[in-house]
Amino acid sequence: MGPRSVPLLPLLLALLGRPDPGRAEGCDLQPVAAETPITLSYATSTVPRGCVSNSSMDTAHEVHVLSVKWSKASPVPLTVTVTPGADACRRPAVLILLCTRCSATITSPCSNLIIRTVSATAPQPEQSWGAGKLLTWVLDTYGGITSYSELQDPRRVQLHLGEDARSPPECTPQEHFNAVLHLETEVFFHGVKGCSRSDTQSTRAAHIIHLQSEPSSPIREVNLSLSCPDNYVGNQILILQSKVNFTWSLFLKCHIQLMVSGSYKMVSLFPMLFPGELLPDTEQDLIAKAFEKNYSVIASYSAIPASTHISLEIQGHGEALRAPGPTISLSYLPHQVLLTLKPWKCTDETMEIVIIRSYLEPIKDVVNITLRDISCQAEKNATHFMLKSPLNHCGTSLEGRGYANNELILSLAKDAVLRSVRVGFQCEIPRELFLRLFPTAAFEAPQTELEINKEAFVQASMRWMDHPADLQLKECWLVASGREPVLLVQGGVARGAGVVVLEGPPSSHGRKIWRFSFTYTIPEGGHMPFSAILKCKAGLQNDTIFEKVLEVTVKDAWRPLNYRGLGLPAVLGITFGAFLIGALLTAGLWYIYSHTRPISKLQPVSSTAPASESSSTNHSIGSTQSTPCSTSSMA
Ligand SMILES: *[C@@H]1O[C@H](CO)[C@@H](O)[C@H](O)[C@H]1NC(C)=O
Ligand SMILES: *[C@@H]1O[C@H](CO)[C@@H](O)[C@H](O)[C@H]1NC(C)=O
Ligand SMILES: *[C@@H]1O[C@H](CO)[C@@H](O)[C@H](O)[C@H]1NC(C)=O
Ligand SMILES: *[C@@H]1O[C@H](CO)[C@@H](O)[C@H](O)[C@H]1NC(C)=O
Ligand SMILES: *[C@@H]1O[C@H](CO)[C@@H](O)[C@H](O)[C@H]1NC(C)=O
Ligand SMILES: *[C@@H]1O[C@H](CO)[C@@H](O)[C@H](O)[C@H]1NC(C)=O
Ligand SMILES: *[C@@H]1O[C@H](CO)[C@@H](O)[C@H](O)[C@H]1NC(C)=O
Repeated sequence: MGPRSVPLLPLLLALLGRPDPGRAEGCDLQPVAAETPITLSYATSTVPRGCVSNSSMDTAHEVHVLSVKWSKASPVPLTVTVTPGADACRRPAVLILLCTRCSATITSPCSNLIIRTVSATAPQPEQSWGAGKLLTWVLDTYGGITSYSELQDPRRVQLHLGEDARSPPECTPQEHFNAVLHLETEVFFHGVKGCSRSDTQSTRAAHIIHLQSEPSSPIREVNLSLSCPDNYVGNQILILQSKVNFTWSLFLKCHIQLMVSGSYKMVSLFPMLFPGELLPDTEQDLIAKAFEKNYSVIASYSAIPASTHISLEIQGHGEALRAPGPTISLSYLPHQVLLTLKPWKCTDETMEIVIIRSYLEPIKDVVNITLRDISCQAEKNATHFMLKSPLNHCGTSLEGRGYANNELILSLAKDAVLRSVRVGFQCEIPRELFLRLFPTAAFEAPQTELEINKEAFVQASMRWMDHPADLQLKECWLVASGREPVLLVQGGVARGAGVVVLEGPPSSHGRKIWRFSFTYTIPEGGHMPFSAILKCKAGLQNDTIFEKVLEVTVKDAWRPLNYRGLGLPAVLGITFGAFLIGALLTAGLWYIYSHTRPISKLQPVSSTAPASESSSTNHSIGSTQSTPCSTSSMA
């Protein structure tokens, strides 16, 4: 019987071959040819064929047979590590290794281990060593067989010695044999596929690992180590698909974008577990996901069985990896750290960066941090780096739709290998209405205190690249407890007494700004509310409405003049009344707030009724969760 080529995973191959036209058009996964873009190996205890028996227990030795097959030449010598069983090497053992065209290193602490290797140089030609013949020969020679395992493309094998009387009396090889009791092996995966979108010029490449786990599999934790060549270009993404209850521990030695299902940990970088995202579980949908993120070359797609350890090496050759421009230096670590932490947060007016210093520990000796404009330097205290800048400063570019672009520049200590590292990032500007209250007409330093009888300045603003010109401020109200809501502005026109609509700065980069001022007065002897809300709506002609609520605390400068003539009981009464009303107000406000907040977080809402206090949130249309491009691919 000649050597059979046993498909490692017939099930997988069937899955891979399944056509599913449509969604990932222009990309037809094909087995990758000669120059594989990756070397992937994974740990498994399931062998293509194998068996165990107790037939050796009456003989002088326990006998283990490993029959190794190759689908292509191994890039590294095979290592076999033999570990002693419970009897600590007292019983002699025989290891028979059939391995043609291979070099193997066998290590064992048992000096009485007898190793017999059978290879192409042995008298028998390879063809004559079918499983049947081999097993017969072993039985004739040693009188029994403890274990027999066929291995396909192994990189390393760990063999545990030991016999089990409960094993069957005869060793009859079975397909997909679970050899977990005495064997763990790491095998090369040669079923890598790839493709690139026909219409692409892009060199952004994706590597996809798709873990196929059978429901009965106990595996829930995967260790994955990733390494890259020296000339590695960093515009790649690694997509790891598994069942959601998997935990990935990632040992990364290079900078790569990540999308992981389940949860994941970046070992040696952060102690904490990051939640992954929900990823589709079909080949076509995973490719479509990569395309969606603008990775239009599928450099590798590997569907492998669930495994506790996966080792992925990205290779340096291949068209997909060649990108124009200079290659990045060894500074992958800071990129990885910062793109994972995403410590930036933007409004339509500001960019704020807060970095917990202990998270930077993997990057040794960060001395200071600046933005692209190095005069914008982060402040630091014992625990944090902090930096806040207006969006139009510090080299921030607003060219990207809905994003502010800048770079973090980390200066490292003088004796570090790298003096400084630049990490470019995109900060998403939420598409929402922003409300700010200012004490002066300079519109600087927003606050949330509204002082009675003093002019206050309000700015509403919003960025909407598509239709800045169509945006209108529909209305603004001041709502305080126990009082009628006061309409301040409607359709851009002042409505309340003492409201002055001011000219806002011209819109730029799709940002529209409205300004007005008003003075909040309380009639003589009136109760002073503790807090109030400012509530504004902006939108397009066609009733796409953005609503925002700003909570303010009402402050009285406490001019004793106002209370001259009131006796002590009256003052107490006022204070007490104010307290009661304050409590009621808080409850009322909470009610209003909790009922309007979903809108303020908004996503466009279409309101068919004329925009008014009673406009309902029920008419919500397609909530356009806009997550175009994404730094969030790291999450
Ligand atoms: C091997 O297993 C068979 C069946 O379970 C049992 O009858 C036999 O005694 C075992 N042999 C040894 C040496 O334990
Ligand atoms: C993990 O999820 C799979 C399906 O996604 C389920 O069959 C399995 O029982 C889950 N395992 C645990 C330990 O929750
Ligand atoms: C993963 O690696 C960690 C750290 O080296 C180790 O403690 C853990 O046992 C490994 N887990 C698996 C499933 O191999
Ligand atoms: C940041 O630190 C580096 C290294 O100590 C120093 O050369 C540089 O002047 C610092 N930058 C600023 C803006 O202080
Ligand atoms: C450092 O500043 C941050 C942000 O303002 C603050 O939360 C933190 O408590 C400060 N740490 C120390 C030690 O003062
Ligand atoms: C309103 O107009 C904007 C821009 O013209 C459009 O994007 C939006 O879908 C429209 N909404 C409705 C409800 O028609
Ligand atoms: C992908 O590229 C297109 C065209 O260059 C761009 O419009 C789109 O925003 C990009 N999307 C992402 C997720 O980067």
